[in-house]
Amino acid sequence: MTDILMDTAERVLTITFNRVDKKNSFTAGMYADLADVLTRAQADDAVRVVVIQGHETVFSAGNDIADFLQAPPVSLDVPVFRFLRAISTFTKPVVAAVCGPAVGIGTTMLFHCDLIYAGDNAAFSMPFVNLGVCPEAASSLLAPQRMGYVRAAEALLLGDPFTAEAALEMGLINRIVPPVEVNALARRQALRLAAKPLEPLLISKRLMKQGQAALVAAHMAEEGKIFGRLLAEPAAKEAFGAFLEKRKPDFSSL
Ligand code: COA
Repeated sequence: MTDILMDTAERVLTITFNRVDKKNSFTAGMYADLADVLTRAQADDAVRVVVIQGHETVFSAGNDIADFLQAPPVSLDVPVFRFLRAISTFTKPVVAAVCGPAVGIGTTMLFHCDLIYAGDNAAFSMPFVNLGVCPEAASSLLAPQRMGYVRAAEALLLGDPFTAEAALEMGLINRIVPPVEVNALARRQALRLAAKPLEPLLISKRLMKQGQAALVAAHMAEEGKIFGRLLAEPAAKEAFGAFLEKRKPDFSSL
């Protein structure tokens, strides 16, 4: 499991994306590992808080496009959706440390984290339409709620990236620090959470989330079905083909 590193210390499980040469893009195997790790952490009394972090230069470039095309998400049981269900229903606090690009699911998974610290080099983007697909991780519900509709439309329809400053201003992240300090800050905050009385902590998270838990699950399932269908359509084929051939996509006939 070297693409995903795990370490549990002082009741904090730290998950590190460790595929920097491919910009921490996620393969199906990595999603399966992430889903399994979170499922185990959910049941493990030794874990009270989870930290998710990448590298100082990159959080994640989203799905590994080649791997994704080889093993497309044809059902809601595939690893990517198992991971999204695991993180979106995780009952313990999740702290994220984000530096560099956070593309696609690299940004949308953050809607399911509780505290988010970013490097001043963080660049968030959700270029689903540019890739011929649609939002996932319930981001079509959560992005408009958290960012306001017009800013979500800019991010989700135009696929425009946004900076750490913009994310802070929109309330999507807690704080910006230099990239070398982000992981340490996330760990400090995780340790503070881990020292809290457990039941009030978990109940408080549940109370903040339960109002729309069913809606999030339903949205995620609907997005997943549509995403799988769109992936087989010409726009996605052109977009993903263009990425692999290192050229600009041509949607002029679509
Ligand atoms: N899937 C597969 N491989 C990826 C990848 C992805 N999502 N993102 C980056 N890589 C690979 C590149 O192909 C390249 O591999 P190579 O060295 O074998 O040619 C390597 O990672 C480095 O990427 P590169 O694009 O050269 O780095 P960069 O610093 O110039 O740009 C990004 C970084 C993240 C901005 C850019 O790689 C990018 O936009 N990636 C695609 C993101 C995307 O569309 N994700 C959504 C998928 S649904």
